[in-house]
Amino acid sequence: MAIIEVEGLRKVYRMGKEKIVALKSVDLTIEEGEICCLFGTSGSGKSTLLNMLAGLEKPTSGTIKVKKTRVEKLSEVELATFRQKYIGFVFQSYNLIPSLTALENVSLPLIFQGMPKAKRDKQAEAMLKAVGLNKRLHHKPKEMSGGQQQRVSIARAFVNRPTILFADEPTGNLDTHTTIEVMEMIKDMARKYNQTLIIVSHDPEIADYADRIITLIDGEIRKIEIKKENEREIIYEKQA
Ligand SMILES: Nc1ncnc2c1ncn2[C@@H]1O[C@H](COP(=O)(O)OP(=O)(O)O)[C@@H](O)[C@H]1O
Ligand SMILES: [Mg+2]
Repeated sequence: MAIIEVEGLRKVYRMGKEKIVALKSVDLTIEEGEICCLFGTSGSGKSTLLNMLAGLEKPTSGTIKVKKTRVEKLSEVELATFRQKYIGFVFQSYNLIPSLTALENVSLPLIFQGMPKAKRDKQAEAMLKAVGLNKRLHHKPKEMSGGQQQRVSIARAFVNRPTILFADEPTGNLDTHTTIEVMEMIKDMARKYNQTLIIVSHDPEIADYADRIITLIDGEIRKIEIKKENEREIIYEKQA
């Protein structure tokens, strides 16, 4: 079943007199439980597309349905509720709160759900354990390595079991070894709970974790590949 449906999506940024067409006219459907990569070089429009799917930015034109809800029509208040209910994020820059411990950072999404503290702490602790950080519960972000901080942010993204998880260059600041660890972790968790995972990356090795790779060039979908056994099959290609 389709969980995200996008039609005729266009995004134009205005910089003074200049117009930047970040997305031309994107049509895209993402299935429930799918692991999908938005792939392309820097400036191709990946983050713009992801941010609109997640309701962080409004399109210039076109429609975005997430779980049948037209997200581009929601108000800021409705969007906040919608994101809390269905969506998790992992960013390249971790976005942890520096003054809070790992446990407190991971508990945060549960506070917004109104869960009592004892239950929150228990759930956050279990999540940190799942990402291998049971010995770092009371460390603050600056007392941890980049890889550990990203694992905290993964625990935070997954703690309320979001239906859809968006990850924008989640391993952009990590070394090769940690990248593999972090990607395996994200993928295993998404599969375990049948979550839909949308990863943005410019790195072919990251793209390879996906069931489907959607290549963007200059704000357009130019290629779609699916995984078949260990081969990639191109199911759509558009020349410039
Ligand atoms: N807030 C913004 N204001 C103006 N231009 C932007 C803004 N965000 C992105 N762009 C431009 O839109 C294009 C696509 O950017 P982006 O989606 O960030 O690409 P990617 O994530 O693939 O690197 C780029 O040319 C970028 O400079
Ligand atoms: Mg980007």
